[in-house]
Amino acid sequence: MGLGIAQTAASSGYAVIMIDVDLEAAVKGIAKIDGQLSRLAAKGRINEEQRLETLGKLRPAAGLKEAGDAAVVIEAAPEHKALKLQLFRELDQICDRKAVLASNTSSIPITEIAAAAKHDDRVIGMHFMNPVPVMPLVEVIRGLATSDEAAGRIMSLAQAMGKTPVEVRDVPGFAANRILMPMINEAIYTVYEGVASPAAVDQVMMLGMRHPMGPITLADFIGLDTCLSIMETLHQGFGDPKYRPCPLLRSYVAAGWLGRKTGRGFYVYE
Ligand code: CAA
Repeated sequence: MGLGIAQTAASSGYAVIMIDVDLEAAVKGIAKIDGQLSRLAAKGRINEEQRLETLGKLRPAAGLKEAGDAAVVIEAAPEHKALKLQLFRELDQICDRKAVLASNTSSIPITEIAAAAKHDDRVIGMHFMNPVPVMPLVEVIRGLATSDEAAGRIMSLAQAMGKTPVEVRDVPGFAANRILMPMINEAIYTVYEGVASPAAVDQVMMLGMRHPMGPITLADFIGLDTCLSIMETLHQGFGDPKYRPCPLLRSYVAAGWLGRKTGRGFYVYE
């Protein structure tokens, strides 16, 4: 999702430093964004000047130290709590005191992430939806300590990026994934119990409920590892058995069939 966030921020006029663990990954990311921009240019949605202007706003980098001068940091690391806590502990030390530190976590409570930072008042949730350049929603989540100033700045930033921010409370899964992920998990149970094939489940929801994408295709698109992490966060966070992850989802993740990004999930991708 980091790529989509960087693309959207750059095309909204912001200078973006794309930080990855190694420089090569960040450079590859910029090439992928260029691919998306070229598609938009071919469709006549942007012109060549806009493509180059957006690319010119992106700088690849490696290592968190590069975030030292940023006004806003948007963390989009994998959905693992220990990793996010470590990142926010370090970012809090590296970044300017006035910087806002936002997490694109899809389910981990912001109060828990903020507790890793000494200056917890500047930590906030800024949850984008995939594909980021297309989806208008951003969930904005304040932790217990988040200041009004940080919340105001993130609401304004989301709007300046062409998004509609919606503020929701800091509970596991927030609102979007509290609703979406149990539906996806139930769709996987429907396959697991032999009620319908993946393609049939998708057809039911696309043709019957006008969903733009069936839930099994959507799970592959989001990433099955991310779906499992979110279900586990809901299950552990609420302690309610209705959120238990489907064993078939666990098997696919254990097999490394994570969806589109690995070339195989419930469907196979070329
Ligand atoms: N990046 C950028 N643009 C993209 C894109 C991508 N990955 N995928 C599609 N688009 C653009 C296309 O270029 C196209 O733009 P134009 O209208 O300018 O031509 C537009 O989106 C529509 O795309 P398509 O015509 O190719 O296909 P479509 O009409 O089937 O739409 C879709 C594709 C937008 C992905 C649609 O299927 C959809 O809305 N799916 C549901 C997505 C969804 O539910 N997202 C939320 C996931 S949950 C989440 O993200 C949160 C979390 O924490 C897990």
